[in-house]
Parts: sequence; C-alpha cells; structure tokens
Amino acid sequence: MKRVAIFISGGGSNMVSLLDSMTGDHPARPCLVLSNKADAGGLARAAERGVPTAVVDHKPFGGDREAFQEALQAELENAAPDILCLAGFMRVLTGSFTSRWEGRMLNIHPSLLPKYRGLHTHARALEAGDAEHGCTVHEVTAELDDGPILGQATVPVLPGDTPDALAARVLVQEHRLYPAVLRRFAGGNREMLRLSEA
Ligand code: GAR
Repeated sequence: MKRVAIFISGGGSNMVSLLDSMTGDHPARPCLVLSNKADAGGLARAAERGVPTAVVDHKPFGGDREAFQEALQAELENAAPDILCLAGFMRVLTGSFTSRWEGRMLNIHPSLLPKYRGLHTHARALEAGDAEHGCTVHEVTAELDDGPILGQATVPVLPGDTPDALAARVLVQEHRLYPAVLRRFAGGNREMLRLSEA
C-alpha cells in the first residue's frame, strides 16, 4: 500500500476528492495533509476524515525558501509518504525540494498545459478566445507547471462564460481527474489519461 501526503493552501476540495477516493481496493492511503496556512479550510476537512494534519507557515521564513522547504521536508520524513500530491498548494517549490521528490510528486493545474502556466488561467483562456479549457495533472519538476503530463480533462468554453463560471466547471473535472490519475500512478501506470466533460 502506497502512502500519500497532500499539500494544500486553501479549501482543499481537490484534497477531499483524493482522500475520499483512497478506500477499498485503491493502492494508496493518505498519511498526511499539510498546509502552509493555519486557517486553510481543508485542514478541518482532513481531520474530520481522521487524516493527520500539519501546518508549516511560510511567513516566519521570510523570503528564505530553502529553510521553508527544509521544514516541509522534516514533516514529510515523519509521515514517510511514497507519493506527494500538491492540491491547490500556492507556494512555488524550488529545485532543491523538487529534485528530492521528482517522479513521486504530482500537481493539479487549472489549465490545459502547456497553456497558461501560473495564475489567472480561466481569465486568460477566455481572453484568448479558446473554444476548450480544462485542467492537467502532471509530475512536478523544477520548472513551474511543467513536467510530464499524466492526465487532462477538457471542458468546452460556453458563450457568456465568466472566469468564475468556467472555474466552477473546470473544478468539477479536477475532482474527477486527480483521483483517477492518482489511482493509476499509485498502481505504476504513468500513461496519459484523457477525460472530457460528460
Ligand atoms: C484548484 O483549482 C487547483 O487547480 C488550483 O487551485 C485550486 C485549489 O482548489 N491550483 C493552482 O492554481 C496551482 N497553481 P481546492 O483548494 O478547492 O482544491
């Protein structure tokens, strides 16, 4: 059975979809949910599910990313995960951390990568006039929102869509895609998964 740690910064809806998927014959179980924000709503949702939680606040580290990442690493050494999932974790991780976890760390990003790395992905897809948008699960490397793509889910862009409306429809697909990719990845399958809005 693989052990999975999940990093969050906010409400943790993707984290909940991952936690709730890891039952029965799933090849993994959660061992830790960690947030860089003490008030992240997702921490209570993890605790309700009996999953150990931790907080490593980035603020006391100032701009010292290396020291922050050492503190993250110390929490991971306690929990001993095989796989680390970023789920709305809004801190950039640098090469000294990503190299330790390369091949074992996943992220979900709300765009069809390689389009729209970074922030404001839904507004950028609308501004570009894209007919299709979606989300991507990929392995994390030292380059931001890069790394081998493990799965994508698409949604059509509809007339009159706003960034919020589009984000809400993409989020529904995130909740399908991430658990499906994690299940495959934990079982050793890294082939790309393609989903579309049913
Ligand atoms: C999700 O839409 C996720 O794709 C995005 O943050 C949201 C977190 O929501 N991640 C990023 O933008 C990473 N750069 P959640 O806390 O409800 O899962």
